[in-house]
Amino acid sequence: MSKKTAAKSAPKKAAKSAAKAGGSSKSLLVENRVFKPAAEFAKKARISSMAQYKAMHAESLKHPDKFFGREAKELLWSKPFKKVLDWKCPNAKWFTGGKLNVSENCLDRHLHDSRKTKAALIWEGEPGEKRVLTYQQLHREVCRFANVLKRHKVKKGDRVIIYMPMIPEAAIAMLACTRIGAVHSVIFGGFSAESIKDRVLDSGASIIITADGGYRRGAVVPLKKNVDDALKGKDTPVKTVVVFRRTGQDVHIEEGRDVWWHRELEYVDAHCAAVAMDSESPLFILYTSGSTGKPKGILHSTGGYLLHAQMTSKYVFDLRDDDVYWCTADVGWVTGHTYMVYGPLALGATSLMYEGAPNWPENDRFWRIIEEYAVTVFYTAPTAIRAFMKWGDNWLKKHDLSSLRLLGTVGEPINPEAWMWYHNKVGGGRCPIVDTWWQTETGGHMITPLPGAVPTKPGTATLPFFGVDVGIVDDLGKEVGANEQGKLVIKKPWPSMLRGIWGDKKRYQETYWSEFKGWYFAGDGARRDKDGYIWIIGRIDDVLNVAGHRLGTAEVESALVSHPTVAEAAVVGRPDEMKGQGVVCFVTVKEGVKTSHELASELKKHVRNVIGPVATPDEVRFAAALPKTRSGKIMRRLLKQIAAGELIKGDTTTLEDINVIAQLAASGED
Ligand code: PRX
Repeated sequence: MSKKTAAKSAPKKAAKSAAKAGGSSKSLLVENRVFKPAAEFAKKARISSMAQYKAMHAESLKHPDKFFGREAKELLWSKPFKKVLDWKCPNAKWFTGGKLNVSENCLDRHLHDSRKTKAALIWEGEPGEKRVLTYQQLHREVCRFANVLKRHKVKKGDRVIIYMPMIPEAAIAMLACTRIGAVHSVIFGGFSAESIKDRVLDSGASIIITADGGYRRGAVVPLKKNVDDALKGKDTPVKTVVVFRRTGQDVHIEEGRDVWWHRELEYVDAHCAAVAMDSESPLFILYTSGSTGKPKGILHSTGGYLLHAQMTSKYVFDLRDDDVYWCTADVGWVTGHTYMVYGPLALGATSLMYEGAPNWPENDRFWRIIEEYAVTVFYTAPTAIRAFMKWGDNWLKKHDLSSLRLLGTVGEPINPEAWMWYHNKVGGGRCPIVDTWWQTETGGHMITPLPGAVPTKPGTATLPFFGVDVGIVDDLGKEVGANEQGKLVIKKPWPSMLRGIWGDKKRYQETYWSEFKGWYFAGDGARRDKDGYIWIIGRIDDVLNVAGHRLGTAEVESALVSHPTVAEAAVVGRPDEMKGQGVVCFVTVKEGVKTSHELASELKKHVRNVIGPVATPDEVRFAAALPKTRSGKIMRRLLKQIAAGELIKGDTTTLEDINVIAQLAASGED
């Protein structure tokens, strides 16, 4: 099969080179081939030619009212919208006058035909349990839990924190919030107590939905204990904690505050009317890292978000009724929101959810799952693909992956070598790959191939999605030339764009809309090749992308200086073969503190405790002083070079006199 597809593409010899391609760490390969959509795929795809893509894209930019007005009719509205877009930069209102409910769109509207008994969620726990929830069953569970929320006085507009393992109840809790118009904020289960506390205080949530624990790589993640630690002290707005029993270990139950999920269900029935929400009502807040200060609460609203989630699931994943679709992202990230829950369910598709690690109990867990459930569309991250490559092809060979028809990636640039491996080994050479560029802020795919129409090249996310007007510009906002690197901007509002940063209008305006007037600045660097394909280089602000997880250097720095021995800290990324970027911390200690390997380990542990395992530093290096410009700005460029081993090598925890190097390198930097 692989030979057949390869013959249709235009093979040029793959040239090995040490060039940096796809913006990833050290890519060993530059792949020049172009992969045309296979004829069988294109034949059935909703968008099946470049001409069709181009015509629709042009219409979406020239006549957004017509284009999106038509697409939005595919949603279920309790009251039709009057106007498609009301745009006064930076505030967009989509589908004004319209009312709809997200859970009704994701559930109720599928109950009138054969989808009623179709699997909405297929779930597998890490220890191996299996559950299937049909649309009918999921609807029932969502209604019941929505009634539990109501029982605890949760009202329209109230914030609800969800801190859950990857179990169906996470999706049930999200959908239940949307049913009654509450605003959920899901916190990734890998975040620490401190991170929960920050988010609780910022969002002003009065209720947390959690579980006793969750399984990850054979161990139990103590979710409830983290919540208890987060709520210590008197300054919390949280009145209720609902605990789902997942792992069964003993947990503390605070009388008058904590209740068990299963007990609560005994008090409620399964009827709960969906509240008709204004199209612009807040739907969820999702915290993500920025280049300064604490994580920011990205706010998404109802109609535009749901439309974009549904539309991209339809055109990019080309989901259809007989697909078994698996997005491996955690529900705590935006990918889990849009492409595990809302997009596929809005479309009436079957979405698979797996609780645990890809290498538990062995390295073939994902392939086992694909084979067992005959997964057809698979969406994962380049970091995972690189790990699979490292573990070796034999793990795949044990399994029949022939059910797959489409593959996707997200979260970071994919190096061509990983792309080719994914294409050949996982996709058997026959599956198109959609490399999707987007962000928490964008709500859904922005730059991506449409699998039946757009020829792909390994390492590029290719072309903009409908309604997305991309610019790659210099500091003055002028378009750069072909293959020149510039700043990635979006020149027009799109339906699922963020509506703000929770509680911080000024930061919203400054972060996204100030660099270039009237345009959204994404924080990424990119270049466009001669065919107009967009190659994402990566973040150009002080945000790292570690294994597809976004991490602000300022957050790690603030965690470090909260340790009693630390005077000052600067954190930078360095290229990492597996994770894309690794976290390197330069630390100066307080007078009289002795530096040692033990202290370095202690500081790594400290960061892990303050933020969570995703932020664990790869290296802590002690420095006599940090290199600064005359105006006192830390010279990150220099530290990045040092971290990458370009300037100094050697024992990483010995005291470095960076000042000496700084003096040499300082000329011109201020
Ligand atoms: O740098 C880009 C990178 O991930 C960032 C967004 O991170 P986050 O908000 O956590 O959302 C991740 C999942 C949507 C972007 O600014 N990124 C995301 N997808 C890609 C990517 N970089 C290159 N190629 C991609 N396909």
